[in-house]
Amino acid sequence: MKTILVTGATRGIGYATAKRLLARGHHVIALGRDFSDFDLDESKLRSRCDRIVFDLRNVHDIHMMCALLPPIDVLVNNAAMLTAAPFESYTLKDRRDVIATNIEAPAELIRCLVPKMIAFGSADAIKGRVINLASVAGFGGHPDVWYGASKGAILNMTKSLAKLYGPEGIMVNAVAPGPTKTSMFDQLPQSRIDEFNRIVFAGRFAEPDEIAKVIEWLALDSPEYVNGSCVDAASGGYLR
Ligand SMILES: NC(=O)c1ccc[n+]([C@@H]2O[C@H](COP(=O)([O-])OP(=O)(O)OC[C@H]3O[C@@H](n4cnc5c(N)ncnc54)[C@H](OP(=O)(O)O)[C@@H]3O)[C@@H](O)[C@H]2O)c1
Repeated sequence: MKTILVTGATRGIGYATAKRLLARGHHVIALGRDFSDFDLDESKLRSRCDRIVFDLRNVHDIHMMCALLPPIDVLVNNAAMLTAAPFESYTLKDRRDVIATNIEAPAELIRCLVPKMIAFGSADAIKGRVINLASVAGFGGHPDVWYGASKGAILNMTKSLAKLYGPEGIMVNAVAPGPTKTSMFDQLPQSRIDEFNRIVFAGRFAEPDEIAKVIEWLALDSPEYVNGSCVDAASGGYLR
């Protein structure tokens, strides 16, 4: 049984991912701020699901939070935020929140958890896995310029950290979803929704569980040779 930390597991893609990983028999630690709609620890899965109420904008406290965790085998850096604010009127606070949540926190979680994966991970060639949630916005830009920039950054970070930790037996990969029906979808302007529906082959937004299946594969099943990669799950929304 693996112990898997999923950030942003209270809803959307993170929730769907936590549900899948629990169904595979693993121990999931779900991190988020608002657990009012979270029910994965209320069912028969309860004994294998823990919750951590933590605001990832508090980057300086992440090392203390990590010190309280059991050894983590798989880290899913899923939590992120975006705003509907136009570039010209983006507040300094929003910019700092996006950078902290979407770039600094995932990096800090990796910095704190991966050395322990290397030290205490299984005797197999694969000692641990990290999955970073990027976005097609990381390739093609986004109306929330800081969100798009953060997704470009996490893609680049995935490569740098795969180079750093890959030789130590750590797989660091990214997933770049296209438009997906979560609360992030609710924040998109209608023009962007129409634009996506025209572009993607499926003619619709993805369901969170479709993205969760990809994350599940990278978290549990993908072979050692998949490292430093980004799996696009975007129905042709950005071909590269
Ligand atoms: N939906 C899309 O169309 C789409 C497309 C491409 C990529 N993605 C990426 O996929 C990932 C998941 O997106 P989603 O659509 O599922 O988002 P979502 O429905 O908005 O959920 C975001 C999750 O992140 C958590 N979160 C946000 N800020 C946090 C903070 N400061 N501290 C702790 N947790 C925080 C939220 O939990 P709380 O509110 O409980 O804190 C929530 O669980 C993100 O990385 C996103 O960039 C999404």
